[in-house]
Amino acid sequence: MKFKNFMRFAGFGAKTILFRKKKPILGTVIITDKCNLKCKHCSVNNITAIIHPYEKIKKEMTTLYEMGIRILFFCGGETFLWRDGDKTLRDLVIEAKEMGFLIVNVVTNGTFKLDLPEADLILLSLDGDKKDHNTIRGNTYDTIMENIENATSDNICFYMAINQINKNSIMDVCMKAKEMKNVRAVSFNFHTPYPDTTMLALSKEEKAKCCEVIKEAMKLKAPVFNLKSAFPYIIENKFPTPCHQCVVIEDGKISTCGRCIEVEGLCDKCGYFFVAEYTLLFRGNIKIICEMLRTYLKYI
Ligand SMILES: C[S@@+](CC[C@H](N)C(=O)[O-])C[C@H]1O[C@@H](n2cnc3c(N)ncnc32)[C@H](O)[C@@H]1O
Ligand code: SF4
Ligand code: SF4
Repeated sequence: MKFKNFMRFAGFGAKTILFRKKKPILGTVIITDKCNLKCKHCSVNNITAIIHPYEKIKKEMTTLYEMGIRILFFCGGETFLWRDGDKTLRDLVIEAKEMGFLIVNVVTNGTFKLDLPEADLILLSLDGDKKDHNTIRGNTYDTIMENIENATSDNICFYMAINQINKNSIMDVCMKAKEMKNVRAVSFNFHTPYPDTTMLALSKEEKAKCCEVIKEAMKLKAPVFNLKSAFPYIIENKFPTPCHQCVVIEDGKISTCGRCIEVEGLCDKCGYFFVAEYTLLFRGNIKIICEMLRTYLKYI
């Protein structure tokens, strides 16, 4: 990260903590909910299957920029399915950078060719070893591995949602992240139990065991892009929700934190590590601040 950008984020953080501000800094644009997969744990694919047009996405990006957002995520559905005429996802990333977003990340299932060097991070969902990943995501593991090998840049970060199916595959994903030359890190979430996927949720005890494995992987120098000081809060679901510094925009509608905010009672069972990490950070938790500085400067 450039020093100038780092200072801007540090300034934002200091103001948020000191004056208890609720201004957002991180925004996600849902560019489509269309998806080529139907993962067992996912409740957001193919509800409308609309690919939102370029002009609409551009307007949404402008809206977020004017709100002060400087960290932008493109998410879906499957982001690599996005097209408008000859414009592709790569054009959206370039446009976002030109608009002035300081960090631009993309979330993908990794089943398409990876040619996105302009993105700061490509968060690529890998949900375990080959067996567990394919149980959740269909027969996609080998294609994904091939796409990572052939990627044109080394800005990939694995993104794993830990649930009842893949809870024993954490170390495997950590070691893959350590080994693969185009992979910079791995970031975890626990399953967030939408009403149709409650059976995949982990108990507190299971979450605690998973966090022990992640800590073990950190000791083995696996590049984990999470903060271990947030683990006790994540295990107990004792972090503040929602995260006021994050917004998501889908089809023109802006929601605080995530599109899941409207699912009754879900925030109390939230499995998203970023919510715990950000809300604790912006409440001024000293351990989190120090660990976040070290971790973010290493991987972005
Ligand atoms: C909705 S997908 C969209 C982007 C892309 N299709 C993909 O799979 O990465 C974004 C991320 O959310 C994760 N996810 C989906 N449902 C979830 C849930 N209920 N709890 C936690 N993570 C979830 C997916 O595993 C994926 O890493
Ligand atoms: S690939 Fe992503 S959007 Fe598609 S079903 Fe899986 S988690 Fe959901
Ligand atoms: S805190 Fe609530 S809105 Fe935010 S990601 Fe978690 S479940 Fe979704």
